[in-house]
Amino acid sequence: MHFQWYPGHMTKAKRMMQENMKLVDLVIELVDARIPLSSRNPDIDELGKNKARVVLLNKADLAEERWNEAWIRYFEERGFLAVKVNSKKGSGMKEIQAVIGKACKAKIERDRRRGILNRPVRAMVVGIPNVGKSTFINALAGKACAKTGNKPGVTKGKQWIRLNKQVELLDTPGILWPKFEDQKVGLRLAFIGSIKDEILNTEELACEFIKYMDQEYDGVLKEKYHVEALDDSYGTLLDIARNRHCLVRGNELDTGKAAALLLDDFRNGKLGRITLEKC
Ligand code: G4P
Repeated sequence: MHFQWYPGHMTKAKRMMQENMKLVDLVIELVDARIPLSSRNPDIDELGKNKARVVLLNKADLAEERWNEAWIRYFEERGFLAVKVNSKKGSGMKEIQAVIGKACKAKIERDRRRGILNRPVRAMVVGIPNVGKSTFINALAGKACAKTGNKPGVTKGKQWIRLNKQVELLDTPGILWPKFEDQKVGLRLAFIGSIKDEILNTEELACEFIKYMDQEYDGVLKEKYHVEALDDSYGTLLDIARNRHCLVRGNELDTGKAAALLLDDFRNGKLGRITLEKC
């Protein structure tokens, strides 16, 4: 799913977020483990102030483990509870339940002091498009969970998923708009496929990706596509086209096809675990 973001979209997403924010005690923020900062919208700190916060490094299966660990420490040092997740496989959900409980502890204590017992903590999942919000909600909620609807004390029109006695989750995630004032951030978002054609065309994007791989993971492309040195990125793209038989009209090399193939291979994890942003 690709999004073209215009100011109108952003204003709408922001308004929805502000409304939903009023309903919850806890914000579960999903970021992409391959680009944990670039896939965050820093405005969430302002929008979610006074709320309990958890950061989840989703798609951790696609990022390098040592960097996942480093990023968890990064967020923890900044006062967030942070966990890595693979929502597609559904792993780590027990740990997440525990972290949610921990994040909500202060609210539960506060309620108890005021004599309010057994009021569930309300939580909401937020993140930029394609980060895995729906996949995560399905994985966390599973099939057994009961949905609660328009009943007293439950906001009209909103569906809540009861995760356990203590926590209810808003069943529609909050969409954060990607923020890419910085060209590097935009590039990273384009590499993972979160924004389309807003930064560069596919071939230029693939060349930028080859440059990054040359610096950080040069062996990977050499092995996968049997290419030589990566210092001339367009030359490498031509080599990939040649070795993968990406051709147009007769024998002309189709660099567009090769670029799409390379980016798809990366996005689907076929190049192995790659972290694009390091702390
Ligand atoms: P969104 O609600 O935030 O927009 O994201 P969504 O859940 O639709 O997920 C976007 C894509 O990311 C989906 O792939 C989904 O399967 C994939 N995904 C989500 N979480 C993970 C994860 O932890 N690891 C990996 N590897 N992938 C994840 P898709 O190609 O759009 O769909 P599908 O072909 O997988 O069904």
